[in-house]
Amino acid sequence: MQMISLLGATGSIGVSTLDVIARHPDKYAIYALTAYTQVDKLAEQCQQFNPKFAVVGDAVSAERLQVKLRACGCDTEALYGLEALCQVASDAAVDTVMAAIVGAAGLVPTLAAVKAGKKILLANKEALVMAGGLFMQAVADSGSVLLPIDSEHNAIFQCLPSDYGRSADNGVKKLLLSASGGPFRGWTLEQMQRVTPDQACAHPNWSMGRKISVDSATLMNKGLELIEACWLFAVPERSIDVIVHPQSIIHSLVQYSDGSVLAQLGNPDMRTPIAHALAWPQRIDSGVANLDLFNIARLDFEQPDMQAFPSLAIARAAAQAGANAAAIMNAANEVAVQAFLDQRIGFTQIAEIVEQTLNNQTVCEPESLEAVQESDSEARLYSSTLIKSLEK
Ligand SMILES: NC(=O)c1ccc[n+]([C@@H]2O[C@H](COP(=O)([O-])OP(=O)(O)OC[C@H]3O[C@@H](n4cnc5c(N)ncnc54)[C@H](OP(=O)(O)O)[C@@H]3O)[C@@H](O)[C@H]2O)c1
Repeated sequence: MQMISLLGATGSIGVSTLDVIARHPDKYAIYALTAYTQVDKLAEQCQQFNPKFAVVGDAVSAERLQVKLRACGCDTEALYGLEALCQVASDAAVDTVMAAIVGAAGLVPTLAAVKAGKKILLANKEALVMAGGLFMQAVADSGSVLLPIDSEHNAIFQCLPSDYGRSADNGVKKLLLSASGGPFRGWTLEQMQRVTPDQACAHPNWSMGRKISVDSATLMNKGLELIEACWLFAVPERSIDVIVHPQSIIHSLVQYSDGSVLAQLGNPDMRTPIAHALAWPQRIDSGVANLDLFNIARLDFEQPDMQAFPSLAIARAAAQAGANAAAIMNAANEVAVQAFLDQRIGFTQIAEIVEQTLNNQTVCEPESLEAVQESDSEARLYSSTLIKSLEK
């Protein structure tokens, strides 16, 4: 029986994870479920999965959750705050941690799980983007097993040789990262100027949280994934090509020196990579329908439009710069995406704010988690001030 702490249980990845887990009560049990503000949804999940702990963002929410849990006869204990998140991520009783909090908020609890040597199912790409060097060092030091949940990275993981990382002579030439192109594929910058948050969140193939949906629309998601792939697979950014593939059936590919290209295909449903990582190195049923290639009939591929989607070039530049550049970029992007969702700035201003913030912050090697957090705070302050000045 694998004991699991699920960080971000009420989100899109959290719900898909619980769907897979519910299919295998003989294999998986829940130790803790966490959310931020969605108390009612978390209480329902606790009723179904009966975890030892449930964690929310603050004391008032925890009190409300505890009352609800008692009323329905559930003996889950409600906790709150960052310390509680770290506690349920690192407790000795836990085998596996699904890191599915969105954004920088996931970094500290995910690192706590890594340092405790847990098996980590990593959806929270921002943690790796912000602090890749420290994160991967902590993985190496603790012997933690790190499995990617992002469908692209999970696909690459499946297509790499099983001794990748242990053998230098593996024949891997390039990683080819698939991108759907998002809802505005084929649009010009001019056409994207007046799009609304709902349009940006209406992804053609994937159903996801609002932050990652906007990132997919700007292609910053692909930029974050590019940096994530550099850390996960220990390759420089020049070894990764981005391929726009609108059907989202090929989730990514690995090109080998003998001319072979291995790809992983599947319906666009996050339960496949979740089930893969949960059961690895075995396979389990995920609930995802069989891929019907006759129905799909064709698979298309395009170059990304770097003019219309400047975020991808910004992310490549941040990957090249290294040091704390990706942490600065990530922080500015989180602030700008939230401002767009709050209808304070336009869609195309997101990339402008990220670029200006990167150009105005000092790039230096972060030697500690505190240094990463300082870069994050400074970038947030700068981009927030920039947004206020644009509103005037
Ligand atoms: N969705 C996908 O298909 C997908 C695919 C690949 C990778 N990912 C990555 O997976 C992560 C989660 O994405 P998602 O789409 O599932 O996001 P989401 O639907 O927005 O869910 C986010 C989860 O994090 C919790 N949360 C938000 N802010 C928090 C905070 N400050 N402290 C603690 N918990 C907090 C939320 O709680 P409340 O519900 O209470 O707010 C929710 O449980 C992201 O890093 C994303 O890039 C997602």
